[in-house]
Amino acid sequence: MAALINPSILSADFANLERDLGAIANADYAHVDVMDNHFVPNLTLGLPLVERLAQVSPVPLDVHLMIEDPDRWAPGFAEAGAASVTFHAEAAQAPVRLARELRRLGARAGLALRPATPVEPFLDLLAEVDMLLVMTVEPGFGGQSFIDGTLPKIRRARAAIADAGLDVWVQVDGGVSRQTIERIADAGANVFVAGSAVYGADSPAAEIDALRALATS
Ligand code: DX5
Ligand code: ZN
Repeated sequence: MAALINPSILSADFANLERDLGAIANADYAHVDVMDNHFVPNLTLGLPLVERLAQVSPVPLDVHLMIEDPDRWAPGFAEAGAASVTFHAEAAQAPVRLARELRRLGARAGLALRPATPVEPFLDLLAEVDMLLVMTVEPGFGGQSFIDGTLPKIRRARAAIADAGLDVWVQVDGGVSRQTIERIADAGANVFVAGSAVYGADSPAAEIDALRALATS
């Protein structure tokens, strides 16, 4: 399976987002972390900004909502032009209804799990989504170190998806770098979010190519 690299603009310069999106034109998607200071202890950006970023980005937007009440807010991000909208299983009241609404609006629908949330209760819902996001750090901040204990969950998710014959992407987010990406790919992930690794590199574009090569080798 081809590896997709989605740099997180959480590690970009918030005063130069258009420039920093231009620096990752060889990425598959730009990962946009929306935080509300409630679901996670950090506040980033919201709908009006996402709407503008969708207009200027050279690559489609992969929006990761770390917010309470995604049932209410997530559809607006699909309407704002996000190609993919991921909400947290821990926060959604009606995940199936929400996933169907996102797809109806033309976006890919993603379901996210915190590191300590087991995948088993959600296996039967995977047919309703396009992507499962396994958080590999506690959501809220960039630059944290990868939690190795999430690897078995990635393996179980990938196996369940294969058993069910589904075409669901498995995304990982948090602590992805040249040091960790090979074992994460080996566990079955195919979409890799990387914030500090990409934007902390001298050449973000070269780092994207290097990560993609390691994940596919
Ligand atoms: C964390 C965010 C991540 C973050 C990853 O809550 O969801 O997308 O930007 O940052 P790194 O790649 O630096 O761990
Ligand atoms: Zn994220």
